[in-house]
Amino acid sequence: MLKTTKKSRFIFVPVFLSVAFVLLISYSLSRSNEAPEKEENKENKEVVRHAENTKCFTCHGERKYTMFNKDSSETITRLMPSQYFIDTLAFYNGTHSSFKCSDCHSADYELSAPHNGELRFEAMPSCIDCHGGDPEYAKFHFEEIEEQVKKSVHIQGCSDKFSCWRCHDPHTYKSTAQNPESIKDLVAYNNAMCLKCHSNSVNYMLMSDESSPNLIKQHEWLPNQASHFKSVRCIECHTALSNDSVLVAHQVLPKDKAIKKCAECHSSDSRLMHTLYKFKAKERRNEQGFFNGAILEESYVIGANRNYYLNVVSIAIFILVVGGIFIHAILRFTLKKKK
Ligand code: HEC
Ligand code: HEC
Ligand code: HEC
Ligand code: HEC
Ligand code: HEC
Ligand code: HEC
Ligand code: HEC
Repeated sequence: MLKTTKKSRFIFVPVFLSVAFVLLISYSLSRSNEAPEKEENKENKEVVRHAENTKCFTCHGERKYTMFNKDSSETITRLMPSQYFIDTLAFYNGTHSSFKCSDCHSADYELSAPHNGELRFEAMPSCIDCHGGDPEYAKFHFEEIEEQVKKSVHIQGCSDKFSCWRCHDPHTYKSTAQNPESIKDLVAYNNAMCLKCHSNSVNYMLMSDESSPNLIKQHEWLPNQASHFKSVRCIECHTALSNDSVLVAHQVLPKDKAIKKCAECHSSDSRLMHTLYKFKAKERRNEQGFFNGAILEESYVIGANRNYYLNVVSIAIFILVVGGIFIHAILRFTLKKKK
């Protein structure tokens, strides 16, 4: 009896092992079959999207386009108006690069021009339509930003015509606020958003019946204007400081509330640490004994970049000098008395 059970055990172990082995192999085979299929699906989707977008880009991605008249078999070439031109590379480099044109635009846009005029009146989705209430994007605080934009001079002065898209280009928008490659590039990128209207009277007039005020004249009080505009964003002086959770303050204030005091930035409690250098500042506070070390890497801001140790040394020297004079005076006084 004992012998047979031992024998059956001997048979059972290899049978069990080989069954497990076969199961494992077939499972991993099925997995490895699955993976490329998924990858392929993804690629297919990408190819379809690219193909669809390319059809629109044959006109909108070029400086000129051609139209064909079936009746007369005639082809004509026209320039693409610059406001309808979309930089293909910038589109695919943007945050929303995974989109088809028809994700936002009507599917009724056809591959011929001119398009049906009715389509111009179609409502476009706003940032909030897609991102509002979505926990995945909670860290961007879209709702709070919308509240701030509603209170800003632009909505107050231009009504709803002034949407998020006026500053954030729908086709090339790129989220860069949190990890910019360099502060100078970030400043240039940001200020270009404002200058699109504030240094272009045609774009400005699309929003207002009045002509655009001359910016250079309005900022004459600021010395080295060009240098300042390369180192700070317009929003540093023109928005209300918002709480830290919102990445970028959005409430643009009327001009009489703009920052004019030099010490707002040129001091150890520089406003720049709560705005432009907010993210860098969190990483490194007062490095190497410098006040606002984060700023120092990019700019020398008079008043904001004093060195802590140099401050201590200069105070010590001052105390020594005053002390020296005091002792000197006492010695002279007592020696005089003795004489
Ligand atoms: C044959 C060239 C051509 C093709 C292809 C083309 N468009 Fe256009 N599109 C134009 C021209 C020219 C204009 C500007 C004049 C006009 O509105 O007709 C324009 C204007 C537009 C406008 C702006 C309308 C407005 O509000 O003023 C949108 C949006 C648009 N096209 C989307 C698309 C989409 C999406 C596709 C792809 C499905 C596409 N177009 C394909 C030539 C083209
Ligand atoms: C993320 C959404 C989105 C996607 C994707 C998108 N668009 Fe747009 N597009 C918009 C919005 C919003 C406007 C209106 C902008 C405004 O009001 O200033 C617009 C405007 C336009 C205009 C008119 C330009 C103007 O200033 O009025 C053209 C042309 C256009 N889109 C073409 C395209 C083409 C071609 C594609 C695909 C390659 C595309 N769009 C993809 C949102 C999108
Ligand atoms: C039609 C829907 C739609 C609209 C309109 C839209 N988005 Fe998005 N957005 C998306 C989707 C989907 C993604 C994810 C894209 C991806 O990962 O490929 C995204 C991604 C983003 C991200 C990147 C998040 C990250 O993790 O880095 C930011 C920031 C963002 N959108 C901001 C905006 C802003 C600002 C606007 C308006 C100016 C806007 N979006 C309008 C659908 C939309
Ligand atoms: C007056 C111009 C302006 C308007 C209008 C505007 N924004 Fe912005 N927004 C900016 C600037 C400037 C930045 C900073 C961009 C950067 O530093 O990368 C920014 C950044 C953001 C960011 C941070 C993520 C990133 O790096 O882009 C979000 C999210 C955002 N805006 C959403 C919105 C929404 C939603 C609206 C409409 C309710 C809106 N914005 C309207 C100017 C504007
Ligand atoms: C789409 C065009 C456009 C863009 C983009 C734009 N603005 Fe404006 N801005 C205007 C118009 C138009 C007015 C006048 C509003 C009115 O009639 O009250 C204005 C008004 C202002 C004012 C108020 C001036 C006053 O008289 O009190 C300030 C400040 C300002 N903008 C700053 C900015 C800043 C900063 C940015 C970038 C973050 C920006 N703007 C982006 C068009 C624009
Ligand atoms: C150092 C702070 C500072 C910076 C940076 C700055 N501004 Fe100003 N801006 C002001 C002040 C202060 C005024 C009000 C001037 C006055 O009324 O004498 C003003 C006025 C304005 C006005 C109102 C003009 C008018 O008369 O209606 C606009 C628009 C404006 N700025 C836009 C911008 C833009 C766009 C940028 C970025 C290129 C920018 N500002 C950068 C501080 C600044
Ligand atoms: C919004 C913040 C801010 C405000 C307000 C401001 N500055 Fe500056 N300033 C800077 C920054 C940042 C630099 C560093 C520029 C650089 O990178 O060289 C600077 C540089 C300077 C420089 C050196 C210029 C150069 O070319 O290197 C002078 C002088 C100066 N500021 C004077 C002033 C005066 C005077 C005022 C008030 C009328 C003022 N600033 C207001 C941020 C500000």
